Amino acid sequence: MKVVLACFVILGVQSIDGFLSVRNTSFYYNDEKVFLSGANIAWFDFARDFGSGAYNQVRPRFEYAIDEISNAGGNVIRVWVHTDGQWSPKWDQNGFATGEDTESLIQELGQLLDYAATKNVLVIFVLWNLDVTPQPMLHLYTQEDRLQSYLDRVLKPLVAGLKHKRALAAWDLVNEPMGSLSQWQEDPNPCYDTTHLQGTGAGWAGTTVYYQNILKLINWHADAIKSVDPKALVTTGEAGEFTTTNVCEKCRDHYTDECLIGAGGKPNGTIDFYALHSYTWEGRYTPSSPFKNQFNFYNKKKPIVVEEFSTTNSESHSPEVNYRHIYEGGYGGILDWQYNESGKWVDNKHDIFAGISSIRNLTSNGKIDIKL
Ligand SMILES: *[C@@H]1O[C@H](CO)[C@@H](O)[C@H](O)[C@H]1NC(C)=O
Ligand SMILES: *[C@@H]1O[C@H](CO)[C@@H](O)[C@H](O)[C@H]1NC(C)=O
Ligand SMILES: *[C@@H]1O[C@H](CO)[C@@H](O)[C@H](O)[C@H]1NC(C)=O
Ligand SMILES: *[C@@H]1O[C@H](CO)[C@@H](O)[C@H](O)[C@H]1NC(C)=O
Repeated sequence: MKVVLACFVILGVQSIDGFLSVRNTSFYYNDEKVFLSGANIAWFDFARDFGSGAYNQVRPRFEYAIDEISNAGGNVIRVWVHTDGQWSPKWDQNGFATGEDTESLIQELGQLLDYAATKNVLVIFVLWNLDVTPQPMLHLYTQEDRLQSYLDRVLKPLVAGLKHKRALAAWDLVNEPMGSLSQWQEDPNPCYDTTHLQGTGAGWAGTTVYYQNILKLINWHADAIKSVDPKALVTTGEAGEFTTTNVCEKCRDHYTDECLIGAGGKPNGTIDFYALHSYTWEGRYTPSSPFKNQFNFYNKKKPIVVEEFSTTNSESHSPEVNYRHIYEGGYGGILDWQYNESGKWVDNKHDIFAGISSIRNLTSNGKIDIKL
């Protein structure tokens, strides 16, 4: 009996430690403080990399990319899953998620995670995007029954199917909501008021989504994930400090527990860390950019990961300086944009690998060289 109990205790301890976790403002893996260093492999076939067999087409490229990032000394990648919903998940004619491709998503994302684990690389999955208007899924922000169909038929089974994978780092729910925010939405509730965003460029995607609906969607997603996998880490990747911090005149943190729970009503539907993107505009960072400050400047009780940046749109134009600044500044991680080398404001692979390998042996702000 004692032996059996001891076994359960040991297994129990391992099952907690064998996954990335957050303690206060740092990441931990196997009881060791970890710094996330790597790159976005956002996509190879935009919005169509996963589901219904699609991964077969891009799998060799993902695996080669993981090899290269791992060889450079990186320990994390960030990969986009549904993006705008044009391919996955599948919808019926009324906009309800059918769940017919859920099994294939579990299998394909599982293959990616299993391969990444063999290379000691963690994976952050991004579900949705508001940086460009996500036409096929936009109704999920306003139609609660459709949103619930997605959570029940796709997201919860997906999380249940992947929660044992050691390489699963976190779920990043919506990329850059700021792209679809108005700069003029007045609201008595500061969580939904966006008038502080005037002059920030918010709303570049062209379609406005009411902030309360975005926060509700995030709250419901986070709650659904944690209801299936309480240890799972959740974040939402934002375009910068203006909507995620309180350190400047145009800044307001809309992703506090209060704002998220207030919008969606679900007490477990909160984020575990902040994920900020930071690029220069006309050659300069904003004074409140992570590249101009240290982590302590933001007074956060959760870690901050600089989840997107590019040497091309940085002030130093040096990958080594950028990676080192974020490491030594006390942040939780840094990921370059992006391995695919396509689109605007992207680094080439040479610069990505130079930045990653320049900090690969550091330990003062957490280990990068980890074994999964
Ligand atoms: C987290 O913060 C609390 C309160 O400041 C402190 O007591 C605790 O030791 C910290 N835990 C870790 C793992 O740093
Ligand atoms: C990068 O993504 C674009 C858009 O999906 C695609 O056309 C291109 O082939 C990708 N590049 C590589 C190197 O796979
Ligand atoms: C929130 O999560 C905790 C821990 O998993 C769980 O015990 C609790 O029932 C959850 N609360 C709600 C309202 O779902
Ligand atoms: C990291 O450590 C390895 C093994 O000790 C060494 O070969 C490499 O030169 C080091 N890299 C850097 C950038 O310090």
